[in-house]
Order: sequence, then C-alpha cells, then structure tokens
Amino acid sequence: ITIDNKKNLYIEKKNIFMKNLEDYKIKNLDDFNNQRKMAANEPELFWSGIASTFQWNKKWKNTLKYDWSIPNTEWFVEGKLNITENCLDRYAKSNPDKKAIIWEANDPNEDFKVFTYKELLDEVCKFSNGLKRIGVKKGDRICIYMPMIPELTIAVLACARVGAIHSVVFAGFSSVALAARINDSSCSVIITSDGGFRGNKITPLKKICDQALKNCPTIKNCIVYKRTSEKIDWFKNRDIWWDDLISGSPDKCEPTIMNSEDTLFILYTSGSTGKPKGMVHTCGGYMVYTAYTFMNVFQYSQNDVYWCTADIGWITGHSYMVYGPLLVGATSVHFEGVPSYPDWGRFWQVCQKHKVNQFYTAPTAIRSLAKQPIDFVNKYNLSSLSVLGSVGEPINLEAWEWYYRNIGKGKLPIVDTWWQTETGGIMISSIPKVTKQKPTYATTPLPGVNAEIVDNNGNLIEESSAEGILLINFPWPSIARTIYGDHDRYKNVYFSAYKNKYFPGDGALRDENGMYRITGRVDDVVIVSGHNLGTAPIENSINEHPKVVESAVVGYPHEIKGNALMAFIILYDKTDDNESIKKEINDLISNSIGPIAKPEKVIIVSGLPKTRSGKIMRRILRKFANNDMENLGDTSTLLNPEIVNEIENTLKSLN
Ligand code: WT7
Repeated sequence: ITIDNKKNLYIEKKNIFMKNLEDYKIKNLDDFNNQRKMAANEPELFWSGIASTFQWNKKWKNTLKYDWSIPNTEWFVEGKLNITENCLDRYAKSNPDKKAIIWEANDPNEDFKVFTYKELLDEVCKFSNGLKRIGVKKGDRICIYMPMIPELTIAVLACARVGAIHSVVFAGFSSVALAARINDSSCSVIITSDGGFRGNKITPLKKICDQALKNCPTIKNCIVYKRTSEKIDWFKNRDIWWDDLISGSPDKCEPTIMNSEDTLFILYTSGSTGKPKGMVHTCGGYMVYTAYTFMNVFQYSQNDVYWCTADIGWITGHSYMVYGPLLVGATSVHFEGVPSYPDWGRFWQVCQKHKVNQFYTAPTAIRSLAKQPIDFVNKYNLSSLSVLGSVGEPINLEAWEWYYRNIGKGKLPIVDTWWQTETGGIMISSIPKVTKQKPTYATTPLPGVNAEIVDNNGNLIEESSAEGILLINFPWPSIARTIYGDHDRYKNVYFSAYKNKYFPGDGALRDENGMYRITGRVDDVVIVSGHNLGTAPIENSINEHPKVVESAVVGYPHEIKGNALMAFIILYDKTDDNESIKKEINDLISNSIGPIAKPEKVIIVSGLPKTRSGKIMRRILRKFANNDMENLGDTSTLLNPEIVNEIENTLKSLN
C-alpha cells in the first residue's frame, strides 16, 4: 500500500499522523502506550508519520527496507533532504532571534556568547562556502579535532551542509590515536584550533595535529581556529587560518541535497579487539530519531534552556547537543570547561546563570561532584531545573540518590538513558512525569525499541523477570548502518551471536514490571569515567615496551570512575626499577591512545593464568582485580594453576 493509503489507515487507527513534531510529544501515559503500541504493530506507519513533520526535498518511497542477515538497514528509502535545513533554515525563517546556542567559556570571567538560529545559519553558511573554496565535495571525509567552542558545532554543521562526512575525534585523544582515525577513513581535511582551554590547562591541539599529520598522507589542508593564541608551527601549503578561510565568504550557501541513506558522519568507538570502529550514521533515520527522542526524553518545551555537559567528540554530543536539540528548535548551553574549574560549584553556577531547565550529565561527573562539600551546590539557585538526565554507564544507587536529593531537591524526575554510539539515539529511558522511574534502572524501552533478554544459552526469556543479555530485535531509524570500511566486522560484532538480532554487548535484568536495568558490558570493553575503552588496544600498547613479554588488562569497580583498569604484566627480566617501567608503560598508553586509558594499577607477575589452548583466563584476573579471591571458580583446568597463588600473594603484599 502507498503512504497515502497508510495515512488514512493511521488516522483511522490512532489519529496521530500529524503535522508538527510537537504533536508527537508524549504528554501522558495514554500517549506513551498508544505510541508504543503503534510503533510495535505498525513501525513503518509510526515512523513515517514522524518523518513527515520534517522538511524533505523529495518524499521517500519505502519507509523501511531491512535484512539483518546481511545485515542491511535502510529508512525513508530514496527520500532526499539536508539535515541542516531542518536544524537551521526552518527556524532561522520562523523564529530567527530564538537562541540556538548559549556558549559558556572555560573561564567564568570571559563573556558568554549567544548564537540565534539566524546567526548560527549565517556562520554555518560562511564556513560551508569556505570548505567549498578549498575543494571539499559531497562524500569527502573531514576530521574535526577541536575544543568545545562554537566553531566545533559550526564545523560539524557546515560539513553536513555541503554533504561532507564529518569524523569528530575527541580532543583528548593522542596524536597516534588521531592519525589512526584520520587514516582509517582517509580524511582530506582536518579542522582544529591552536589550543584548547580546559580548567587551568591548555591542550596544544595544533601541535598534536602536526605530530599526527606526519603520518596522514591523505590530508591536504589543516584549518586552524585561533582560540588560545599560543605559538604554533605553520605549514604554509597545508595550514589555513579559519578567519582567512571565511573572510569575504557569503553567508548564504545552498544545502547539498542528500539521499536519506547517504552518510552523515563517522564516529569512532572502541571495540573489544583491534582498531577503533568507525560507526557510520546516515541522514534521514538519524534525523528523525534524534529529534523525536530529544523532545520526549527531556520533555523539552519551546522556552526551555537545555544543557548537556558532554563533549561533542562523543555520540552524546552529536545527538543531544548538536542535532537533536537543533532539530527541535531548542536553546542549548554548550560549555567549554570542566566541572571543577574554577571550583566544584561551576555546573551549578552555570545552571543558575542561564536558568537551565533540563540538565544531562554522566554518573562519573555526579560521583566526583558528590565528593565535594555540599555548599558548592547550596550556594546556587537551582529552581529552574525540571528534568535531570544521566548517560554513559550504569548509575549506582549512591550517585542516583545524591543527584535526586541535592540537585533534584527530592522532586525532579531523573532520566537514566541507555544507548550507544551504535544506536545513534536513546533506546531505554523513562519519560519524565509520564512513565515510572526506578533508581538504577533505565526503565522502559522507548516506542519503536523492541528489547528482549536472552539467557547465556541464547534462549529468549519470556517471563517479565529476567536476567541475561540484552538484544534488540527490530530496526529503529538511527541504528549505525555499518563500520566504515569493514562491513564484515559490523556483522560479526553486532549480528552474528544472535541470528537476526542486534547485540549491543550489554547485560541486563528486567523486573516483574518490565523495567530494564543495564548491568554492564559483557565483552572486553571497560567503561572508565564514562569513556568506552577496549582492553585489547591497551594491551597492545603495553606490549610495545621492550621489557614486556605479555600483558592483560581488566576492569574493576572504582568509586569515582565507575570502573578502573588493572594491568597484569610479565617482564623478560626481573628488575629493581619497577616504578620506571610502570611510568614508561603509562607514557606508551598516553601516546598511543590518550591519558584516559592509563591503568590505575600495574601489577608485575611472572605468568598469567592460561587455558590449555593458551588463552588468558580473564575471568580469573577480573576476580583478582575485584578483590574476590574466594570465588575463583575451577582453576584446575589451567595450564599453570600455580600462578593463581603467586598473583594472590603479590596482590596481598601490595595492599
Ligand atoms: C555503552 C555505550 C550513550 C552515549 C554515551 C556512551 C554504557 C551508556 C548507559 C546507561 C548503563 C550505559 C553501555 C553501552 N551505557 N548509557 N544509562 N546505563 N549503561 O556511548 O561510548 O558508545 O558507550 O555505555 O555499556 O553499551 P558509548
């Protein structure tokens, strides 16, 4: 049946084939149940209704085509659009003076900046024209390595406007990690700044780029925004100042019309093995899903001020600082700094200053904040707040309660949002004041998200109460379509363990009311301070040390970071200078990945527990790291059972 026939059907059924996105706002439990039912029974109708509220240059043919045995997923097939028209032009026309971004600098004494929708559109157009001037075309990959300044958002949107694929690399990554990401997707241009302010530190971003670019043959130009004014080296044939690039550039730029399934961006995430995975997100489905979820999960209303404290270098920043909020015409705060500068009251000072309504942060930040004297909170007026959010890792009960009591004053809803770089948008979350919340539970899958739990043998658990592995059994619009350049890996990681189902890599339990709690990763990925880290790449860089034979890295619970890393290493020769080896190992990791990946503890051992086939038994090392030595399980099948006692004694002697 054609869309029009479907439309009638839809009207007949639920009367929610409507004109404005706002009409799809979930206002009460009835709305929620209706939408959830509709999305489950008639997913194509449901999503095409929502998609119809956007501006398309050409209507799509099929709403959904998919085959998860390949795996392949396409939404709004053959529809044509440019996402920036939906983010900017619509509102620049209808509401030009509405604030799009309120930018708060690292230094509280530096004036904040406001960009209205009209101003943001003009800046994006100017920079788009600049990109075109240096030959950037549709489909080119552009790396963005910038601090949290408005030009980062402008650069992202300008890429989208000209149809170039942005690949934002978080500005905390090392030059080696940056080069690996540039080369994986052969970027032709990199956009950076001289330096970045973070607390009382300056990150020398241009210098790190220079280092990376020695090994990046595909980069033709490096665009540099002046932020810190420090001294930098200059490569005349390659480097261009941002201001020179846009000088004289017109503030109108026709958007490049994209297919719904053209790539919008690549964003790298760690895998449990090997190199980072360049997750590919496409235009149409990502647009529809991020807008819908932003509006509903945060219950955003048109005069609200929303603040997400993430960095745009992560998916949270892409979906819920740039695209989602702009697609809804929201006003967002973007913050350059850190929660501890100039003191631990900064978040609350910013909330008061800009009268923030929705505040979205990570458990690791909450745990650090909870350690500080409560005066840092109580000094400020937080009465504007209406919704609190959490993302990035399971939120523990203490952190949840601190957040609820001290920031929410015992009455604000908390949305614990479970999702991933791969899912593009929020998948499991409560809807504030509409659905129930439950501490430490992400709670309910959103409309259109078909979650299920299987046991360790892969059998579906039908009962409400369940504990096992989380799977999603039907496509949603913003699922990553592939891993850039490696579709086989995409298939292997996400679609091979369970036939025709998406495997996110997380464990979950479900209570008798169907509420989900995410219990943590079930693969070799450890989330440290909200950063997703694969243990294999860390081991690889430790093994580069000439004195190291072999190593194994595991995670263990940490009070502030959520998890920390413990590295077990075997050296060729015993030495008295273990401290300098540990320091050298930390330097190797900082260089190859970034300081975030440094282990909390490095333990030197003479061997690692191995199976007869030579595989390291990480399960045992995890128990050691968790200080859970009583429950090591059966160690008799080990190749080298004696090593267990030795490691135990080493750890005891360190305590
Ligand atoms: C992994 C994805 C989602 C954007 C930021 C992280 C963990 C994320 C939650 C949550 C429990 C969570 C999962 C997931 N995670 N949110 N609310 N409760 N766990 O994106 O770097 O791709 O990491 O973060 O383990 O798989 P990411």
